[in-house]
Amino acid sequence: MTRIALISGDGAGPEVMAEAEPLLDWARARGRRLEAKHLPYGAEHFLATAETLPEAAFEDLRDEFDAILFGAVGDPRVPTGRHAEEILLRLRRGLELTVNFRPCRPLPGTRMEGLHLEVFRENTEGAYCLQGSTEPGRAVDLAVHTEGAVRRLLEAAFARARARGCTLTLAHKANVLKHGHGLWLRVFQDLQAAHPEVPARSLHADALLCALVQDPTSFDIIAADNYLGDLISDLTAAFAGGMGTAPSLSWAPHRPFRCTALAEPVHGSAPDIAGKGLANPVGMLLSTALLFSHLGWEAEAQAVEEAVAATLRDGARTRDLGGNLSTREMGTAIRDRLPR
Ligand code: NAD
Ligand code: IPM
Ligand code: MN
Repeated sequence: MTRIALISGDGAGPEVMAEAEPLLDWARARGRRLEAKHLPYGAEHFLATAETLPEAAFEDLRDEFDAILFGAVGDPRVPTGRHAEEILLRLRRGLELTVNFRPCRPLPGTRMEGLHLEVFRENTEGAYCLQGSTEPGRAVDLAVHTEGAVRRLLEAAFARARARGCTLTLAHKANVLKHGHGLWLRVFQDLQAAHPEVPARSLHADALLCALVQDPTSFDIIAADNYLGDLISDLTAAFAGGMGTAPSLSWAPHRPFRCTALAEPVHGSAPDIAGKGLANPVGMLLSTALLFSHLGWEAEAQAVEEAVAATLRDGARTRDLGGNLSTREMGTAIRDRLPR
């Protein structure tokens, strides 16, 4: 029995989760043995109980579930973002979900159609180690990189490049971040030597961004640390149609715990449009497809991706893409195209 935890979170999170959950019922109806459980963690729960993600709940997720499907966190009523840190970043780090995979497959009918770009973002450390201090007139944010996580992330990126038969580019700023990105460059060069069959290069991230905007087709897979990967993957989301369309899957290649994956859209809680039925569910539904693929349910993953593509090809659009469908109408249009 595959156990999946559903954490809808804040803002538009519950709206897009409501479109994804029926996909789990559909997979079950096709014979996949799965059990889904909603967990309440998010801003509402935090404001009501002062609880973010209790330690016992974290341990339960880690040891009693196989994967997590996540909406989004972030709420203007919690301006420090403390709950987002203690829920989402805690899960990414605590479950050692080193690899954050953010594919960019532009929508049918758009200028960039045919582009197949993938970002491999380290997901647990770097600038996200949350160590630092604020003193009068001075502020410090540390970035901690460990060889274990860097190697796991880059090994996953090399393996993917080999499987796709495509090029891999490392984004770094080792000319300035001599210690941290120096480590990234050393491990990258090590793996380049071990995988001469993979065309691999490293580029300074600033120059890379310019080249990426000028010609996205000159990249196939980009690997980056947590902070650069966060920025690069929002840019690639724009190529694919915008924040509402980009999916992601985080996983732990070394499988340290039962729970090895967390799927979530790249977008946040979108407080500006939340609660109005305006959020595009595509990023969430494609994230669910990535989760199916992680679970080995390839037929279901492919069917969801094809249903999304067919729906968009037929011209169905939410407002962010120039259409007038609501979140629910778009979700229904996609589900209607799934095979029974
Ligand atoms: P955001 O991604 O929530 O929104 C950025 C823009 O994209 C907004 O204009 C929003 O309306 C639009 N957008 C986002 N999702 C959309 C969707 N599904 N359909 C259509 N349009 C969509 O980023 P932000 O505004 O910088 O952050 C809002 C909150 O979300 C903050 O608290 C932030 O920390 C948090 N956040 C959370 C996650 C996450 O949970 N993984 C990711 C990013 C931001
Ligand atoms: C993302 C988000 C998160 C991040 C925030 C909400 C902490 O922007 O998933 O890309 O920076 O990783
Ligand atoms: Mn981000």
